[in-house]
Amino acid sequence: MLGVVTGGGTGMGRAICEALASEGCSVALCDVDMEAAAETQRICRSISPTGTISTHSCDVSSEESVESFRDAVVKAHGDAGSINLLFNNAGIAGGGSFLGSIEDRTKWDKTFAVDWGGVYNCCRCFLPLLVASEQACVLNTSSVNGFWATVGAASMHTAYSAGAMLSDVSTCLPLATALIHHQCDLSRSCTVRHS
Ligand SMILES: NC(=O)c1ccc[n+]([C@@H]2O[C@H](COP(=O)([O-])OP(=O)(O)OC[C@H]3O[C@@H](n4cnc5c(N)ncnc54)[C@H](O)[C@@H]3O)[C@@H](O)[C@H]2O)c1
Repeated sequence: MLGVVTGGGTGMGRAICEALASEGCSVALCDVDMEAAAETQRICRSISPTGTISTHSCDVSSEESVESFRDAVVKAHGDAGSINLLFNNAGIAGGGSFLGSIEDRTKWDKTFAVDWGGVYNCCRCFLPLLVASEQACVLNTSSVNGFWATVGAASMHTAYSAGAMLSDVSTCLPLATALIHHQCDLSRSCTVRHS
């Protein structure tokens, strides 16, 4: 069983990698922060000394970067012709006013590129490998903040909501249609973290 995890360097991505390793799965994780990714790899190897845990530098907002990630995953896992699990976990928070400064616009564009573009790029790139396996599942992670545009004047979630929600809505239907004849499930995990 091979699981691909985006944003596996910290937080929930790392926890997903640890859970996969403890179940004996091979893991291919990517992140933009390779120090964090290496630490996840170290932890996973201590959980599963014989498992294959590979780390990859990838910015999910770039299609080219995701394509290189996919090619590297295939190579690192013995020319794997398929994968079983795709966790679209990498995500960032951000937003700002449409009437705001250029910085607001830059933050909006970046949040949208990662939270929407990341899911889109990874689904497109990894789909052939998912449908090539006997059993597969795509899991998208979003905060409940994906459901609303703002939780108050001091805290804008506009871009996050649009990115996270749209990535789910816009990818789920075409994916479900594409996968109708395949053993591949789609799930959305919508989580709330309590501090
Ligand atoms: N933090 C929360 O309260 C919360 C709650 C619910 C859901 N979420 C969602 O869960 C997911 C994980 O959240 P988290 O709290 O563990 O976040 P986190 O910031 O701890 O981890 C996200 C990881 O993704 C990586 N990352 C960021 N941009 C990337 C990119 N362009 N390409 C590849 N990797 C990238 C980061 O380096 C980091 O390692 C996100 O999608 C987030 O929106 C977060």
